[in-house]
Amino acid sequence: MLIPSIAGTADGIIRRPRDAPIVFAHPSERELARIFDFYRVPWRYEPDSFVLRAKGERVLEMFSPDFYLPELDLYLELTTLRQRLVTKKNRKLRLLRELYPEVNVRLLYRKDYQELLAKYGFGPEEVASPEAEAFRAEAAADQILFRQAEIAATVRRLGATITRDYAGRPPVLVGVLKGVSFFLADLIRQIDLPVEIDFMAVSALGREGPVRIVKDLDVDIQGRQVVLVEDIVDTGMTLRYILGHLERWQPAGLEVCALFDKRTRRLADVPIRYVGFELADEFVVGYGLDYHQRYRNLPFVARLRPERYRPPDPSAQ
Ligand code: IMP
Ligand code: MG
Repeated sequence: MLIPSIAGTADGIIRRPRDAPIVFAHPSERELARIFDFYRVPWRYEPDSFVLRAKGERVLEMFSPDFYLPELDLYLELTTLRQRLVTKKNRKLRLLRELYPEVNVRLLYRKDYQELLAKYGFGPEEVASPEAEAFRAEAAADQILFRQAEIAATVRRLGATITRDYAGRPPVLVGVLKGVSFFLADLIRQIDLPVEIDFMAVSALGREGPVRIVKDLDVDIQGRQVVLVEDIVDTGMTLRYILGHLERWQPAGLEVCALFDKRTRRLADVPIRYVGFELADEFVVGYGLDYHQRYRNLPFVARLRPERYRPPDPSAQ
């Protein structure tokens, strides 16, 4: 007699008691939890296990993603492992997606995690800062992704589109300091409407407590059209927080314009109306974007070589 397997059914999802103690298996998981706390994104650690293979109720194979983010309805598996083991995980992940198609799950690789930390300047500083001149030369050699003229053309295109879309209802452009100030200054000059500009500032990770508004808007945006301008959207967690804050002021309309969109790295699903460039999974600097507060003044956008922000791989010795 064929016993139906519980894999892929509701019985195949094993919930961990909510009050079970949290024991992180790896320091990177604790670090990631800290980042979620900072962005006020609620998380649960290894809350559910998914049966992948079973004979009847006898479980043969199971997968327990590291995190679940209830507000984003997203499971995350963080892997800091070597490639051989990653391949095995990938297979499990595929199986999980096949069996439980309604489950939203993402794998974060070692390099995703390192890029996440680089953004907050957690990478190794000592190897990070060749003099601007040296970097300029190096970048000019092979690392430039977008030259000045290319950026200018894209900014013109975005400005023209916003001019058209907002004819008769000029928006307030809102930027979040500091990186965006370069782009915003250029963008506003390509918009042929009586627009206003305002800035906000949010606290940085590593300071006291979760993210908060350090400088709020001066302009009253209630009933106004607002375009939030961002330099780059990566996981989307910053944007999610800012949009949540702005919505409380009840603007008549709220759209996002981002010069760079690293869409493949998104965790929080935020709508972006105007995108300059889509970026692959790379850490970039220049035209306002920094690493350890450096390189903002480069007139082009270059990729920062991974060796500069990745700590040496201990397993590679
Ligand atoms: P998110 O919250 O993960 O979307 O991160 C957005 C913020 O991270 C941006 O406003 C930037 O300050 C920073 N960021 C993300 N990716 C990069 C990058 O490649 N270079 C420099 N800064 C970045
Ligand atoms: Mg920023």
